[in-house]
Amino acid sequence: MAHPLSRLHRVAGMAAGLLILTFLTVSALSELNGDPDMIRLAKTAIAWGLVALVPTLMITGVSGMRLGKGWKGPTIAAKKRRMTFIAANGILVLIPSALALAWLARHSETGAAFAAIQTVEFLAGATNLVLIGLNARDGIAISRRRTVRTA
Ligand code: HEM
Repeated sequence: MAHPLSRLHRVAGMAAGLLILTFLTVSALSELNGDPDMIRLAKTAIAWGLVALVPTLMITGVSGMRLGKGWKGPTIAAKKRRMTFIAANGILVLIPSALALAWLARHSETGAAFAAIQTVEFLAGATNLVLIGLNARDGIAISRRRTVRTA
């Protein structure tokens, strides 16, 4: 039988991925559209969206660590490494840039500084999305062969 935490872990992990995908899409669409009101709305919504993303990622990480306790092997080690990077990238790059962009958009300062920070945010966000995808892929593989307990 699956571990009781594994459903929570799976749902939280997928939700985190969906939230980041939504943030990237909303950013891209609002900036391609170029309407300052739309950009302000998008950036404000994303900054508030962090209130959902941060706990979702924390739940994913903590439940993952619990599920992975006592497991040895390269797949779990890789998931842990990616999770550490995802968290550091989020705390050091994504949160500050989302807050800075929301502030700049609110003050109608969507010039060079905005564009530079937005580029960094896109790259960091896309990196986290790929790493979350890899962790989901490995997670599905582990739970398929979890009876072997050598992942
Ligand atoms: C953003 C990060 C992560 C995502 C998106 C993610 C996603 C997933 C998914 C989709 C599954 C499959 C669950 C199922 O089919 O029921 C899974 C399983 C698993 N994950 Fe993660 N995971 C993440 C982080 C972690 C971390 C940091 C660890 C700990 C090192 C971890 C350990 C595990 C384990 C041990 C399983 C197998 C659970 C079982 O079948 O009992 N995950 N993960």
